[in-house]
Amino acid sequence: MPKGHSTRRGIQVPDYKVKDSKLAKQGKLQIEWATMHMPVLDQIKQRFEKGKPLKGLTLGACLHVTKETGVLVNTFLAGGAHVALCGSNPLSTQDEVAATLAAKGVNVYAWRGQTNEEYYWCVNKVIDHSPDITLDDGADLVTTLHTKKTRAMVKIKGGTEETTTGVLRLRQMEKKGALKYPIVAVNDAYTKYLFDNRYGTGQSTLDGILRATNILLAGKTFVVCGFGWCGRGLANRARGMGAHVIVTEINPTRALEAVMDGFHVMPIEKAALIGDVFVTLTGDTSIIRREHMQKMKNGAILANSGHFNVEIKIPDLEALAVSKRTIRPNLEEYTLKDGRKLYLLGEGRLINLAAAEGHPSEVMDMSFANQALSVEYLAKNPKLEPKVYNVPREIDETVAGLKLQAIGVKIDTLTKEQKKYLSSWEEGTI
Ligand SMILES: NC(=O)c1ccc[n+]([C@@H]2O[C@H](COP(=O)([O-])OP(=O)(O)OC[C@H]3O[C@@H](n4cnc5c(N)ncnc54)[C@H](O)[C@@H]3O)[C@@H](O)[C@H]2O)c1
Repeated sequence: MPKGHSTRRGIQVPDYKVKDSKLAKQGKLQIEWATMHMPVLDQIKQRFEKGKPLKGLTLGACLHVTKETGVLVNTFLAGGAHVALCGSNPLSTQDEVAATLAAKGVNVYAWRGQTNEEYYWCVNKVIDHSPDITLDDGADLVTTLHTKKTRAMVKIKGGTEETTTGVLRLRQMEKKGALKYPIVAVNDAYTKYLFDNRYGTGQSTLDGILRATNILLAGKTFVVCGFGWCGRGLANRARGMGAHVIVTEINPTRALEAVMDGFHVMPIEKAALIGDVFVTLTGDTSIIRREHMQKMKNGAILANSGHFNVEIKIPDLEALAVSKRTIRPNLEEYTLKDGRKLYLLGEGRLINLAAAEGHPSEVMDMSFANQALSVEYLAKNPKLEPKVYNVPREIDETVAGLKLQAIGVKIDTLTKEQKKYLSSWEEGTI
């Protein structure tokens, strides 16, 4: 069990729990590398350093502890905040990054390979720091606060949510009158989901699958379950690698988009018979179940990149198997009664974080710029109603503008004539 310091009530002593403090030097280099590729967040950090907009605030964050999160935490520290951080998945923490942040005085409770109990212990440790603002990726922090630590909510001004699954849950909480403080839905910013979910998940999911298996994708039949923002990113990238891509959907519009994008669309029941690789990215549950596993080809590979590990029904796989062994990290072989072998990657958890490093820094630059600016927005607007808010349009456009500037792309601006034309209605066919 990883070691850390212990707290003394009311005294700011470094309190943390990480796998190995000696990894701090390695983590520092990783964070430096990420910083180089996150110019938008770096600019925000420089502004925060001068203005200290978060001075005196404690931020409680439940985010994947990656090198990019390291850059985000540094931005908050520059803004004068105190940060308590835990991972948002038992398998996603980069231990060297956790060690670096702990060495900087951040209260980090995260290590890779946690049990469920350890995971929630860490979430609770973050809550013990009495945050003013929360940051979530999947809403586990908000849910724990609303169900088990309700007293800690009195002080909270607001929170942010990073992913689709978290936003869905929070909107349900709002609808049912259960949400007790305002949340900014960072996921729903254009500069988040159009880039992070699509290009980030698209690339890093393949990265995870390849690191876990090192299979050749060219010529394989690759089944993408869910043609949302993540799914379409993955489907396009898998096709780019030469795979025959099949899409499964439940939403007719999205299925039609997939058809017109040139993908084969069919029910999972049919796809199960022909797929070599299956990836779920739906945010839903039990997408690949016993009846599908029973039909799969010998050697089929199963991975998930949706938020929770419920999309592949692992208990069904366990029940069907007569034996199981680990072939290499993140690659588990299940032998079924008839001798067929099915392979599960990364315990069915987000494969891009379990077997690779999550999204590339360039896309996290935009997602986390939205996080940083949304936290600043909450700090400036402490009296919002307990609802789920969209990221203010100005923030979204600022992030897009800064990113274009950072990559040296210039665009046109409207002429006076065009502005007038676009705001008029009288002129028609000439
Ligand atoms: N791996 C990552 O790093 C990462 C990054 C961003 C989001 N996510 C997660 O990925 C999941 C998908 O996110 P998104 O932004 O693409 O969501 P989305 O809502 O845009 O897409 C999900 C799609 O899945 C479809 N779907 C639902 N149930 C289905 C079923 N039974 N069979 C087939 N399709 C089904 C929906 O119709 C929808 O089109 C969420 O859990 C999200 O939190 C993961």
